[in-house]
Parts: sequence; C-alpha cells; structure tokens
Amino acid sequence: SDLEKFITALPKAELHLHLEGSLEPELMMELATKNNIELPYKNVDEIRKAYDFSNLQDFLDIYYQGMNVLQGEEDFYALTMAYLQKVAGEGVVHVEVFYDPQGHTSRGVSFSEATNGILRALDDGQEELGVSSELIMSFLRHLSEEDAFATLKEAEPWFDGRIVGVGLDSSELGHPPSKFERVFEAAREMGLKLVAHAGEEGPAEYVREAIELLKIDRLDHGNRTIEDSDLTKELARSGIALTVCPLSNLKLCGVSDMKEHPLKKMMNAGLKVTVNSDDPAYFGGYMTANFLSVAEALDLSKSEIAQLCHNSIEGSFLTDEEKAPHI
Ligand code: ADE
Ligand code: ZN
Repeated sequence: SDLEKFITALPKAELHLHLEGSLEPELMMELATKNNIELPYKNVDEIRKAYDFSNLQDFLDIYYQGMNVLQGEEDFYALTMAYLQKVAGEGVVHVEVFYDPQGHTSRGVSFSEATNGILRALDDGQEELGVSSELIMSFLRHLSEEDAFATLKEAEPWFDGRIVGVGLDSSELGHPPSKFERVFEAAREMGLKLVAHAGEEGPAEYVREAIELLKIDRLDHGNRTIEDSDLTKELARSGIALTVCPLSNLKLCGVSDMKEHPLKKMMNAGLKVTVNSDDPAYFGGYMTANFLSVAEALDLSKSEIAQLCHNSIEGSFLTDEEKAPHI
C-alpha cells in the first residue's frame, strides 16, 4: 500500500526489542531439534496456536520456555542475525536491542556465550546490512536485587562499549522500580545508560519511580503515564523518550482494540513517543506492521508518522554526529 511504502521509506530506529522475543517458531523448532530440547509442540502451527495471551504473565511463561532452545553462541548469533535481516528491509537504520542474560545463565548457558554470539551478529549486521546497533542487558525484575547485582558484576568486562546500558523487564506488577534503585545507581556510576519497563501493566506511580528513583534515560512502554496529568507534564518537559509497542499492547490485552490505543493521546500531551515491536515473533509483526496497525486504527497523518520516526532517532543513544545523517 501507499502508506506502507511511506512508512518503510522513513529512516527510523527500533529502541524496544527483546532479542529472545524475535525467535520465530521455525528457528525455535530447528534449534530444539539440533540441541535435543523437548518442546510441548509438534510443529510450528502448534507453536503459533499457543500464542494467545490474556496478560503479560501469560506471554512471559511461553517466552521463557521458548528461549530454552538457545544453547551455544551460534544460536544467539542466528537469532540476532535473523532479526537484523527482517528490519533492514523496513527502513530501520539503527537498533538498540535488549536481551535477558539471567534467562540464560539460570539454565546453564554462560553469560559470555550468549553475549558474544549476539555481539558478533551485531557487528556483522553493521558490516553486511548497514544497520548500526547498541546492546542493552535487562534485569529480570521478578528475580532478586542480589541476582541483578551478580549479573551486573558478571557483565563488567563488556562495559568497555559493548554493552551500553541496562534495562528492567519481566513481570511488572508487584516488582516496582524501587526494588532496583541500588542496582541502577551502581550501573549509573559505571557510566551505563539506563532504561526500564514501567506503566505497561503497572500504574503511573511505577513510571514516577523509574524516573525519580532509577533516573532512567528512556522509558519502555509508559502507556499508563497519562493517567497522572502532573507526571505527564513532567515527563513531557524532561524530553525523555517513550518506547511504545502497539501490537504488544493489543496481544497482551493492555488495549482491547487498536482504536483504543493511547499513542495519539500521548503524542498530543507532548510526550516523545516512538513505535517499536517488543517481541515481534510473539505479537504478530515487526516495525512496519506496528506502524501500519496503529496508524490505520488512529488515523495518523503522514506528518505524525514522520514525527514518530524522527523521535526514534532523537531518542536513541547515538551521538549528535551519528544522528545527523538520519535526520
Ligand atoms: N520481556 C519481554 N517482553 C516484555 C514485555 N513486553 N514486558 C515485560 N517484560 C518483557
Ligand atoms: Zn518489552
């Protein structure tokens, strides 16, 4: 369509993507067979049928099970390269991707195998596809502060520019940002960038904690921010970017219909909104699909779509010189 061509042609960055959430059923089956991992599915159709979620936790249970097929460095390389190949054709010029090291070290896959496989693919993706990238490691918030501190320590050899930041993901309700205040303080002192999921299922108060206690540089989701008008004004004034994920919100029932999605309200409130795919293999689409779905449902203008793409370059962790060619 004309709109699809318009979206694809705009240079943009993806700022909210969990690499493990880009594991397509085909690669999952292939790796399960190669690595002798038992899956509760006989084929890719059965896998796709299982992707019917009522909330975040429903998804997370399936997501952690899916990532069990990732074993050696080569598997992380294949996962990452497949993602980069998908988005390179969608006008994505830069990506800042998350991974969940604790989801791997907890089942006996070493931190270095996972990390080095991903980094090697990111290097090759820059070289072969022209997509620049940064790597952010996320702490699983359902695990303890102590576990997060141990992961931060294990990752230190990669803080020479290979891992540029830390994030916070997994089960939000009951695990407020305040639980990780000291870990984020330590990460900040190490010169890392800071992001956190907040206001996806959790209340606006969790967004406030992420900003005031964790002192984040970027907010992941943040949909529920607009329930608090003072917070919304403060966040708009701060210029902090929000990484909104429309198809994710639909699949996890944060909205019952894309026409109910708060993205336009968020933009109109002055928030620096970006569009992202979160876990595209599970939620039914990569960048273009997310843009198309929300643009059609909310009747976004071409100038609003261009603004969203512009915000993604602006809100990235690229330097001003690195941003310049994309603006
Ligand atoms: N892990 C992967 N995707 C996530 C999401 N959307 N929210 C929280 N944790 C996640
Ligand atoms: Zn996410």
